[in-house]
Amino acid sequence: MTISIVRVEDPSSLQDAFEVRRQVFIEEQNVPEAMELDEYDHAPQTIHVLARDENGSPVGTARFRPYHDGGVAKVERVAVVGRHRGTGLGRSLMKFVEAEANREGFREIRLNAQTHAKGFYERLGYKAAGNVFFEAGIEHIAMWKPLSTHQRFSN
Ligand code: COA
Repeated sequence: MTISIVRVEDPSSLQDAFEVRRQVFIEEQNVPEAMELDEYDHAPQTIHVLARDENGSPVGTARFRPYHDGGVAKVERVAVVGRHRGTGLGRSLMKFVEAEANREGFREIRLNAQTHAKGFYERLGYKAAGNVFFEAGIEHIAMWKPLSTHQRFSN
């Protein structure tokens, strides 16, 4: 199956990303709707990415945004719909996010992984830091990964 992954550039694609998140986080994981959508979703600096299948149906999403300062991007809301899990889509989404974050000039990615997904991020080179904590009633652990050196050339 051919999957395309793009940056969200229009309101209807953003709604499609929210629909994936609704299925995965609200319906499947019982995250309260009031917590799932937050103030960062419509912030101008937040970049959403969306995966569609060959029929154009939304099947995966993630977002990233500047975090503190010093070139750190925080990745959040990484989600693949159930029927597409285990096919490499989650990895492709994260690789796309990393490439886009690198292109934006970020040097490091941080995220709070649900502990069941720690191995998924470890396979992508992320390292855990600190203790397990609860967010929306779900166990999480902070993880981070440096991005490759970002170089800008000017003449
Ligand atoms: N634990 C350990 N390893 C995992 C894993 C898990 N939960 N999920 C996937 N992997 C491994 C795969 O076996 C694969 O290994 P490989 O390198 O040997 O091939 C690799 O990670 C990539 O897997 P992939 O098929 O790309 O993962 P996916 O498409 O199933 O997506 C999630 C992974 C976590 C994004 C997906 O399961 C999901 O959306 N879950 C529900 C929402 C969620 O919990 N999101 C995370 C919030 S922090």
